[in-house]
Amino acid sequence: MAEPYYITTAINYPNGRPHIGHAYEAIAADVIARFHRLQGRLVRFQTGTDEHGLKMARKAKEEGRTPRELADEMSSYFREMADGLDISFDRFIRTVEPAHHAASQALWQAMERSGDLYLDRYEGWYSVRDEAFYDDKELVVGEGGERLSPQGTPVEWTVEESWFFRLSNYQDRLLALYDEQPDFIAPASRRNEMRAFVSSGLRDLSVSRTSFEWGVRVPGSDTHVMYVWVDALTNYLTGLGYPEPAVDLQRFWPADLHLVGKDIVRFHAVYWPAFLMSAGLPLPRKVYGHGFVLNQGRKESKSLGNVTDPLELAQRYGVDVLRYFLMREVSFGQDGTWSHEAIVMRSNADLANSFGNLVQRVFGFIFKNLHGKASVRQELQAEDRAFLSQVREACARTLPQHFEALLLNQGLDAWMQAVFACNAYVDEQAPWALRKSDPERMETVLAVLCSAIRCLATAIQPVIPRSAARVLDTMHVPDDARTFAHIDAEGGEGAYTIAQPVPLFPRLELPESPPT
Ligand code: MSP
Repeated sequence: MAEPYYITTAINYPNGRPHIGHAYEAIAADVIARFHRLQGRLVRFQTGTDEHGLKMARKAKEEGRTPRELADEMSSYFREMADGLDISFDRFIRTVEPAHHAASQALWQAMERSGDLYLDRYEGWYSVRDEAFYDDKELVVGEGGERLSPQGTPVEWTVEESWFFRLSNYQDRLLALYDEQPDFIAPASRRNEMRAFVSSGLRDLSVSRTSFEWGVRVPGSDTHVMYVWVDALTNYLTGLGYPEPAVDLQRFWPADLHLVGKDIVRFHAVYWPAFLMSAGLPLPRKVYGHGFVLNQGRKESKSLGNVTDPLELAQRYGVDVLRYFLMREVSFGQDGTWSHEAIVMRSNADLANSFGNLVQRVFGFIFKNLHGKASVRQELQAEDRAFLSQVREACARTLPQHFEALLLNQGLDAWMQAVFACNAYVDEQAPWALRKSDPERMETVLAVLCSAIRCLATAIQPVIPRSAARVLDTMHVPDDARTFAHIDAEGGEGAYTIAQPVPLFPRLELPESPPT
């Protein structure tokens, strides 16, 4: 029985259209999900939209629509983004689903049974943009002297009857969790931040609202809806069938990885484990807070007018190019930046001129001059073996080790080194020059290159699935022989049949007037 692996993205607020940050997270999660599938694991991958809360309610009011109308329209854009970027999710969850309301209420009741919920009055600061409560001491002063949240968003004074969760009771248990499970929060910088936050003392958390209705009703307390983060976090359980003892729940809970942005690590690494402890449920294995993707160093925002539609970028440059660019260019865990120039340069250098060109030259030559067939004709030479073992080491070991550790860009670096090694091997062996003088050696060199290309294409599938599939299709590699285990099984001494190759990556030009 394959080892299960459950990975989730944050669920997005559909109060606006998807931007590059949403795309980045979805792509990173998809790369990890595909990687684990190719390692033979049984993967469950969930993404979706977080549709309740004051932010959605206000936005709908501004537009003169019901929150549900807004949610239905906007959620569909996130779904389109996921489909358009080849995100291989198993479940796209929407928090308006009745099953999700039922799951959130079940979790609430479990916390209530533990004695962790009580009714009181909330008086304090709330940021609608962050959907978060803040203490006085956390606030910063804006340029005009106004109070802002630590994220720089406006806050408003709120006084309301509210249910509270006894978060203060969980301080010690959370600190013990971080000590006992050092990988629970990653990267380490985020763990240190959370540790400091929890060590400084936790106040009970307001977990319901009475001033608006757009949310999940609190069971037995009709005038209250749940604080949006309580229901939002529950999505990870809903998708598996909670509270029923569903097969998926048994198989996939606890989650292996909640992949989220650095701004919402607190909700996942403090509140969520406390809720789960209270409800008596097992805790996720890891919360990873990735960095932000900036547009030429600046955050994209509607007010700056620099919001980019990720699907437009994918259409302009190709889905695989966008996926590769984001994974290779951003050091995973840190902030990164994108620009049209950077995409064009990276794609041309790595994909068009290096990998694409290698495949095109080798396959094109075999197709034209050898009727599409190349076999190892003689004993391999020492340099052939050294070359093959270098490529296989990078594809079957170094890249997987890095991906396993979520060092995605480092995995790609190892892959690129292997591509360079192939191009160097082509230059050294100059197979085309052997056509007349030593056709057997020529064919052998080409077959060795086919073996290397097969390894490269297999290993890169998680990142550029369409292009990798085209290479493997051109080589007639059966669908069930494309996992990492097959890289090792492939001895490099085979016979290859190559179909007519189609160019993989066109050389990109900078758009005349790139949209910002
Ligand atoms: N709805 C909450 C998450 C609830 S999860 C139970 C939320 N939504 S969001 O739409 O604001 O953000 C969704 C994800 O996108 C978050 O993980 C957030 O960190 C990430 N990003 C938002 N902007 C980003 C960038 N510019 N770059 C990278 N990721 C960023 O928070």
